[in-house]
Amino acid sequence: MSVKILGTGSYLPPKVVTNDDLARTLDTSDEWIYSHTGIHSRHVAEADDCTSAMAAKAARKALEAAQVAPADIGLIIVATSTPDYATFPSTACLVQAALGCAETGAYDLQAACAGFVYALEQARCWVKVNAGKKALVIGAETLTRIVDWRDRGSCILFGDGAGAVVVGDVPDEEGPAAHSILWADGNGARFIYREGGTRLPAQPGMLPIPYLVLQGHDVFAFAVRSLAKVTNQLCEKLGTTPADLDRVFAHQANGRIIEAVARRMKLPIEKFYLNLETTGNTSAASIPVALDEAVRKGELADGAKIVLCGFGAGLTYAGTYMQWPYL
Ligand code: UT7
Repeated sequence: MSVKILGTGSYLPPKVVTNDDLARTLDTSDEWIYSHTGIHSRHVAEADDCTSAMAAKAARKALEAAQVAPADIGLIIVATSTPDYATFPSTACLVQAALGCAETGAYDLQAACAGFVYALEQARCWVKVNAGKKALVIGAETLTRIVDWRDRGSCILFGDGAGAVVVGDVPDEEGPAAHSILWADGNGARFIYREGGTRLPAQPGMLPIPYLVLQGHDVFAFAVRSLAKVTNQLCEKLGTTPADLDRVFAHQANGRIIEAVARRMKLPIEKFYLNLETTGNTSAASIPVALDEAVRKGELADGAKIVLCGFGAGLTYAGTYMQWPYL
């Protein structure tokens, strides 16, 4: 039996906010943002789009591409740090209802920007032990609703969107070897966080909507180390080398991070898929959005050796080596 990605889909909300737009209300410039991040613009959800709505839109496209009916989905995992509700119900349950799936397990997975890679690995394992069933894996985020638009050191980075894949098995086939690494380092928990959970008792004067807090330098350094480490170790595990990879789909956090990873790994930057110039950092959505774009542009041939790798708050970091579309 082999497990594979049967179809991909994505959704980016139509409203685009450029760096010049930000510079009208913030002490920043297109020149500064682009030279420090590689980002020119990002998509921002309007009032009628929320994380579950964008997730459902991306999921419908993935189902259509996979030619799978909602009734055939047995599991929905939504990787997100920006669920519709603060704690429950899960965004995945809302997506399940929106798609009209029945007898389907549904839950959210919180591993920040590495969440899609974590969720994909869970879906792969679930499909292996539930032969004939299909899983929907979604990364969806509305980060623009939790950033402090007065903080030029963080708000310029983020955008909204959703990406989805359908995972299923092929009974009479043996796919090529794949492998995943899921890691975390909670010592860096304070490098990116958002207050407002139950860590502290409610305080008088607490902000009604706590904002994302980011220590950019620390996260930058961790990102470069962790993406290179995960990719190298995946290649080592599979008995191959990074130079043999056709494409790396790294979390689209900052173009300078990806350039530094390429330098550290002595790989040409062209091996790294880049779309953050027009998406910004969409957290758990960034890898499936990039994958879907590459598939639809015909840039991902069957058998291509690829690594998906992400890092994020936690700190988490994770990667999957696969020969497209086999997991
Ligand atoms: O999914 C994971 C999420 N997080 C990340 O990936 C974040 C990773 N880190 C980064 O991407 C970068 O650290 C940032 C883009 C956030 C910041 O870039 P930096 O090159 O590390 O800038 P910095 O924080 O060292 O700031 C340098 C200067 C400071 O001014 P002074 O103190 O030197 O006068 C900042 O106040 O640049 C200033 N600055 C800005 N200036 C204009 C910071 N943000 C801006 C801005 N526009 N937007």
